[in-house]
Amino acid sequence: MRENVLLIGGGGREHAIARALEDSEADLYACAGNKNPGIARIAAGFETLETTDPDAVVDYAAEIDATLAVVGPESYLEAGVVDALEDAGVYAFGPKEADARIETDKAFQRRFMADNDIPGCPDFETFDDMDAACEFIDEYDGDLAIKPAGLTGGKGVKVIGDQVTPEEGKEYIRESDYDRIVLEERLIGEEVTIQAFVANGAFETAPAVQDHKRAYEGDEGPNTGGMGSYSDATNDLPFMSDDDYEEAVSIIEATVDALEDYRGILYGQFMLTETGPRVIEFNARFGDPEAMNTLPVLETDFLDVLTAARDGEAPPELEFADQATVCKYAVPEGYPTDPEAGAKVQVDEESAGDALLYYASVDERDDGIYTTTSRSFAVVGVADSIDEAEEIAEDALAVAGDEGLHMRHDIGKADLVQRRIDHMNELRSE
Ligand code: AMP
Ligand code: GLY
Repeated sequence: MRENVLLIGGGGREHAIARALEDSEADLYACAGNKNPGIARIAAGFETLETTDPDAVVDYAAEIDATLAVVGPESYLEAGVVDALEDAGVYAFGPKEADARIETDKAFQRRFMADNDIPGCPDFETFDDMDAACEFIDEYDGDLAIKPAGLTGGKGVKVIGDQVTPEEGKEYIRESDYDRIVLEERLIGEEVTIQAFVANGAFETAPAVQDHKRAYEGDEGPNTGGMGSYSDATNDLPFMSDDDYEEAVSIIEATVDALEDYRGILYGQFMLTETGPRVIEFNARFGDPEAMNTLPVLETDFLDVLTAARDGEAPPELEFADQATVCKYAVPEGYPTDPEAGAKVQVDEESAGDALLYYASVDERDDGIYTTTSRSFAVVGVADSIDEAEEIAEDALAVAGDEGLHMRHDIGKADLVQRRIDHMNELRSE
C-alpha cells in the first residue's frame, strides 16, 4: 500500500526527513510555521499553519488522507500534536505529550532518571524558589549548570565555571523570569549525541554525532540551536571507544524500558567524562543538525521504520553506510543574540556540488531565497573520512559566500577533532 505521510516541521532536520522519504513508497505532504522551499519541492503539498495548534494539523492530515505522520520539532510534541492525531485515527511517529516531557520538562527528566535508577544522571536539585536556588549556588562545593525547566530552543542553559561566574549565574537566575530551574553538577568531557529509533518497546541506534552549540569558532560565544556537527564512518567518534558507545546505548535502553510506551526518536546527549558517559539531556526527536548527519547515511528505508512502529512491530534493523559526515550551518550575521535577516542565499541544491543542501528558516521570494532571523541552511559532506566530508561541506560554503552570513568553518577540521581527542586523553590520564 502506498502511504500518505504528513511531515510536521519546516527546518533543516525536517528537510532531511523529507529527503529520507523521497524515494519511499509514499506521497509526502508537509506542514510547518514557515514554508521550507526544500521540503516544498519534494512534497506533494505544503501547508503553513500555527505551529502549536494541534487542530490545524489534524485538519490538514484529514485533508490529505494521511496514513502516517512524523513529527520533527519538540514544540509540536509539547502541544500534543501526536495525541490529537491519534484521536483522529492517524498514527504519528513521535512521543505523546506526556512522554515528550523527557525533553520538555528538564526537572521531570532528572527526577525520572533518579526514580528509575537510570545510570549516568548527574547530581541535581530542582527549584521553584529562585532565592533558594541562589543560596544553593553559594553553598555547593563545585560548579553547577543552571537549566530552565522548560523549552528554550537550546539557549537557556548557563554553565558556571565555563560561560559564567557564580555571581553572573545568580544574576541570570534573578533577572530571568523562569518559574522552575534545575541546578546540576557540571559535567566535564566531550559531548556526544546518540539517536535511537524507538517503537513498541524496542529500539535501534544511529552512529554517534558531535554537535557544536557555541556560536563562534573555538567553542566561544553564546549557545545556539547547534552550528554544525560531524560523524565518523563507524558508530564511534575519534575520541570515543566501542565501550563508550555501548555504555551510552545501555543508558538509552534503561530509559526506553522505563518509558514503557515511548515511540519516535529518543535523542541522548551525553557528556563523555573520564568515568564514561553521563546524560546531559534527552530530546524527544531527531537533533537539528544531527538528523542531517544521520539520515543521509541511513540505508534502511525510513518508511519501514514508520510503518513498523504503526503496525505494532519493532523497528527494522538499521543499516548505515560506512561514511563520515560533516554538517555546517550558515546562520544570519549576529545570530543568536542580534540576528540580521534579509541576506540573499547564493547557493542552491545544484551549485552546492557534492554537498547536500538543507534549507532551514528561510524566506522564498520571487527573486530568490533570503535569510530570516534563525539558522538559514546547512551543507553536508558525506565521504570516507571526516577530512574529506569537511572539504565537501567547505566547497559548498565557498559558493554561498559570507555576505550577511556566519558559519563555523572549524567544525570537522582536523585540528578541532584533534583537540577533542587530546581533551579526552588528558581527562583519562588524570
Ligand atoms: P541543553 O539545552 O540541555 O542541551 O544544554 C545546552 C548545553 O549546555 C549543552 O550542550 C552542554 O554544553 C551544556 N550543559 C548542559 N548541562 C550540562 C552539565 N550538567 N554540565 C556541563 N555542561 C552542561
Ligand atoms: N542539536 C541540538 C538539538 O537538536 O537540540
